[in-house]
Amino acid sequence: MEASFKQTTTNKEERYHLFLPQFELLISDEQEEISVLANAAASLREAFDFFWVGFYIIKNEQLILGPFQGSVACYRIRKGKGVCGTAWAEGRTLVVPDVDQFPGHIACSSLSRSEIVVPIIANGEVKGVLDIDSDQLNSFEETDRFYLEQVAAIIAKTLYK
Ligand code: SME
Repeated sequence: MEASFKQTTTNKEERYHLFLPQFELLISDEQEEISVLANAAASLREAFDFFWVGFYIIKNEQLILGPFQGSVACYRIRKGKGVCGTAWAEGRTLVVPDVDQFPGHIACSSLSRSEIVVPIIANGEVKGVLDIDSDQLNSFEETDRFYLEQVAAIIAKTLYK
Protein backbone atom coordinates (compact mmCIF):
# COMPACT_ATOMS: atom_id res chain seq x y z
CA MET A 1 0.00 0.00 0.00
CA GLU A 2 1.26 3.43 -0.94
CA ALA A 3 -0.58 6.32 0.60
CA SER A 4 0.63 9.71 1.73
CA PHE A 5 -1.47 11.76 4.11
CA LYS A 6 0.97 14.66 4.19
CA GLN A 7 -0.76 17.93 3.38
CA THR A 8 0.44 21.23 2.00
CA THR A 9 -2.58 23.43 2.83
CA THR A 10 -2.60 25.10 6.22
CA ASN A 11 -6.38 25.67 6.16
CA LYS A 12 -7.85 23.33 8.73
CA GLU A 13 -11.22 22.84 7.05
CA GLU A 14 -9.55 22.11 3.71
CA ARG A 15 -7.29 19.59 5.42
CA TYR A 16 -10.25 17.72 6.87
CA HIS A 17 -12.00 17.80 3.49
CA LEU A 18 -9.01 16.21 1.79
CA PHE A 19 -8.42 13.80 4.64
CA LEU A 20 -11.87 12.23 5.04
CA PRO A 21 -12.30 10.41 1.69
CA GLN A 22 -8.68 9.22 1.75
CA PHE A 23 -9.17 7.99 5.31
CA GLU A 24 -12.35 6.11 4.45
CA LEU A 25 -10.53 4.38 1.58
CA LEU A 26 -7.64 3.48 3.86
CA ILE A 27 -9.66 1.72 6.53
CA SER A 28 -12.94 0.56 5.01
CA ASP A 29 -11.73 -2.84 3.74
CA GLU A 30 -10.25 -4.06 7.00
CA GLN A 31 -12.02 -5.19 10.18
CA GLU A 32 -9.07 -6.00 12.45
CA GLU A 33 -9.42 -3.52 15.32
CA ILE A 34 -5.75 -3.02 16.25
CA SER A 35 -4.67 -2.67 12.63
CA VAL A 36 -7.40 -0.22 11.66
CA LEU A 37 -6.85 1.97 14.73
CA ALA A 38 -3.08 1.90 14.20
CA ASN A 39 -3.46 3.17 10.63
CA ALA A 40 -6.07 5.68 11.79
CA ALA A 41 -3.65 7.13 14.36
CA ALA A 42 -0.77 7.17 11.83
CA SER A 43 -2.80 8.87 9.10
CA LEU A 44 -4.20 11.51 11.49
CA ARG A 45 -0.73 12.24 12.78
CA GLU A 46 0.69 12.53 9.27
CA ALA A 47 -2.12 14.76 7.99
CA PHE A 48 -2.40 17.10 10.99
CA ASP A 49 0.89 16.73 12.82
CA PHE A 50 -0.94 16.31 16.15
CA PHE A 51 1.19 16.25 19.31
CA TRP A 52 -0.55 13.05 20.49
CA VAL A 53 -3.30 11.14 18.74
CA GLY A 54 -4.65 7.75 19.66
CA PHE A 55 -7.40 5.52 20.93
CA TYR A 56 -8.70 4.14 24.19
CA ILE A 57 -10.91 1.07 23.80
CA ILE A 58 -13.50 -0.13 26.30
CA LYS A 59 -12.69 -3.54 27.73
CA ASN A 60 -14.02 -4.90 31.02
CA GLU A 61 -15.71 -1.58 31.86
CA GLN A 62 -12.48 0.43 31.52
CA LEU A 63 -10.79 2.44 28.80
CA ILE A 64 -7.63 0.60 27.77
CA LEU A 65 -4.82 2.28 25.81
CA GLY A 66 -4.99 1.34 22.14
CA PRO A 67 -2.90 2.29 19.10
CA PHE A 68 -1.49 5.82 19.20
CA GLN A 69 1.20 8.16 17.87
CA GLY A 70 3.15 10.25 20.35
CA SER A 71 4.79 9.74 23.69
CA VAL A 72 3.93 6.94 26.13
CA ALA A 73 0.53 7.23 27.82
CA CYS A 74 -1.42 5.80 30.74
CA TYR A 75 -2.85 2.31 30.25
CA ARG A 76 -6.25 2.48 31.93
CA ILE A 77 -8.89 5.15 32.56
CA ARG A 78 -12.05 4.52 34.54
CA LYS A 79 -15.51 5.66 33.45
CA GLY A 80 -16.10 9.29 34.43
CA LYS A 81 -12.37 9.94 35.02
CA GLY A 82 -10.31 12.49 33.09
CA VAL A 83 -11.41 13.94 29.78
CA CYS A 84 -11.56 10.50 28.14
CA GLY A 85 -13.61 8.84 30.88
CA THR A 86 -16.00 11.82 30.98
CA ALA A 87 -16.52 11.75 27.18
CA TRP A 88 -17.32 8.04 27.56
CA ALA A 89 -19.70 8.56 30.51
CA GLU A 90 -21.51 11.43 28.77
CA GLY A 91 -21.39 9.89 25.28
CA ARG A 92 -20.36 13.17 23.70
CA THR A 93 -17.35 15.02 22.34
CA LEU A 94 -15.41 17.16 24.81
CA VAL A 95 -13.31 20.09 23.61
CA VAL A 96 -10.92 21.30 26.31
CA PRO A 97 -9.21 24.61 25.42
CA ASP A 98 -7.02 24.53 28.55
CA VAL A 99 -6.46 21.18 30.28
CA ASP A 100 -5.51 22.92 33.54
CA GLN A 101 -9.09 24.18 33.75
CA PHE A 102 -10.62 20.71 33.40
CA PRO A 103 -11.18 19.19 36.85
CA GLY A 104 -9.68 15.70 36.98
CA HIS A 105 -7.72 15.99 33.73
CA ILE A 106 -5.24 13.10 33.54
CA ALA A 107 -1.83 14.43 32.50
CA CYS A 108 -0.07 11.72 30.51
CA SER A 109 2.36 14.38 29.32
CA SER A 110 3.11 17.59 31.19
CA LEU A 111 3.45 19.29 27.78
CA SER A 112 -0.20 18.75 26.88
CA ARG A 113 -2.17 22.05 26.94
CA SER A 114 -5.45 21.41 25.12
CA GLU A 115 -7.37 18.33 24.11
CA ILE A 116 -10.34 16.92 22.21
CA VAL A 117 -11.94 13.56 22.95
CA VAL A 118 -14.49 12.06 20.54
CA PRO A 119 -16.43 8.95 21.50
CA ILE A 120 -16.71 6.16 18.94
CA ILE A 121 -20.36 5.15 19.04
CA ALA A 122 -21.96 2.12 17.37
CA ASN A 123 -25.56 0.97 17.89
CA GLY A 124 -25.96 3.63 20.58
CA GLU A 125 -23.04 2.26 22.61
CA VAL A 126 -19.63 3.87 23.21
CA LYS A 127 -16.94 1.43 22.02
CA GLY A 128 -13.93 3.65 22.70
CA VAL A 129 -12.64 7.18 22.27
CA LEU A 130 -10.42 9.08 19.87
CA ASP A 131 -8.15 11.31 21.97
CA ILE A 132 -6.05 14.15 20.53
CA ASP A 133 -3.70 16.33 22.56
CA SER A 134 -1.93 19.56 21.65
CA ASP A 135 1.06 21.25 23.26
CA GLN A 136 -0.64 24.62 22.55
CA LEU A 137 -3.67 26.15 24.27
CA ASN A 138 -6.97 26.45 22.32
CA SER A 139 -5.98 24.09 19.50
CA PHE A 140 -9.42 22.56 18.98
CA GLU A 141 -12.78 24.08 18.20
CA GLU A 142 -16.08 23.42 16.45
CA THR A 143 -14.43 22.58 13.10
CA ASP A 144 -12.39 19.82 14.73
CA ARG A 145 -15.41 18.45 16.57
CA PHE A 146 -17.48 18.42 13.36
CA TYR A 147 -14.90 16.55 11.28
CA LEU A 148 -13.44 14.30 13.95
CA GLU A 149 -16.95 13.04 14.72
CA GLN A 150 -17.07 12.00 11.06
CA VAL A 151 -13.73 10.22 11.51
CA ALA A 152 -15.17 8.41 14.55
CA ALA A 153 -18.33 7.51 12.57
CA ILE A 154 -16.25 5.98 9.75
CA ILE A 155 -14.31 3.94 12.32
CA ALA A 156 -17.55 2.80 14.03
CA LYS A 157 -19.07 1.77 10.70
CA THR A 158 -15.95 -0.16 9.71
CA LEU A 159 -15.21 -1.95 12.98
CA TYR A 160 -18.36 -2.24 15.04
CA LYS A 161 -21.28 -2.39 12.60
N1 SME B 1 -5.66 13.52 29.16
C1 SME B 1 -6.46 12.34 29.07
C2 SME B 1 -5.67 11.09 29.35
C3 SME B 1 -5.10 10.45 28.14
S1 SME B 1 -3.71 11.23 27.56
O1 SME B 1 -4.03 12.61 27.19
C4 SME B 1 -3.08 10.44 26.23
C5 SME B 1 -7.64 12.44 30.05
O2 SME B 1 -7.69 13.36 30.88
O3 SME B 1 -8.52 11.60 29.97
